[in-house]
Amino acid sequence: MGSTSQRWSLQGMTVLVTGGTIGIGYAIVEELAVLGARVHTCARNEAQLNECLHDLATKGYQVSGSVCDVTSRPQREDLITRVSSLFNRKLNILINNVGTSILKQTVDITAEDFSFPLTTNLESAYHISQLVHPLLKDSGAASIVFISSIAGVTSIKNIASMYGATKGAINQLTRNLACEWAKDNIRINCVAPGPIRTPLCGRVNFLVFMIIFTDLF
Ligand SMILES: NC(=O)c1ccc[n+]([C@@H]2O[C@H](COP(=O)([O-])OP(=O)(O)OC[C@H]3O[C@@H](n4cnc5c(N)ncnc54)[C@H](OP(=O)(O)O)[C@@H]3O)[C@@H](O)[C@H]2O)c1
Repeated sequence: MGSTSQRWSLQGMTVLVTGGTIGIGYAIVEELAVLGARVHTCARNEAQLNECLHDLATKGYQVSGSVCDVTSRPQREDLITRVSSLFNRKLNILINNVGTSILKQTVDITAEDFSFPLTTNLESAYHISQLVHPLLKDSGAASIVFISSIAGVTSIKNIASMYGATKGAINQLTRNLACEWAKDNIRINCVAPGPIRTPLCGRVNFLVFMIIFTDLF
């Protein structure tokens, strides 16, 4: 058995983390880079992406990035073409992190409110997983991690029902893909965090956010 650092090393591994410029995604990118992986990330805000890449390069990590809005099918295709070329048609790890939320009562949800989290949280992660399947398979040892939420497991008062529905769908997608792609040596897992202070929840007052969450328990 190797040393702890060898066992936890991701040296030589290639990773795509969606939405890695801030919040949970940034923390994931940095942690994977610390472990030696070559990481690619994406986000819509080009200035923030460049700032993030500069920050990580200053710390000595190998991270590249693309401007990509994952709600756009053609942009998702361009992203994976870039990843494929960067990593020589092999990808070891996909972290489907991008997610958004609309805090509204169900009766106030419009057609647009309905489709926005569905496209951002579910359709994008589903399609990106489809697109990278050949790259994951060719790597020989691969893994997908979906970032879900406790809102996908249990009802949270005042947290948009649509957000919970997309995260519940991600949880079931995890189970289905885990069985479907096991034959291709692709492990599928999902992490369902509780409240974490990031720009996503910073848009709501964090205290209010915590009250909403703690009201559950
Ligand atoms: N924070 C929490 O309390 C919490 C709890 C449970 C689960 N989660 C889940 O954890 C994940 C990350 O949440 P977070 O709080 O870290 O979010 P965040 O602070 O809002 O960060 C989201 C990241 O995704 C990018 N992004 C958003 N929409 C995008 C799009 N359409 N295309 C490409 N990139 C996009 C953002 O960059 P741009 O804006 O530049 O695109 C940013 O890099 C989400 O799936 C969320 O549902 C969060």
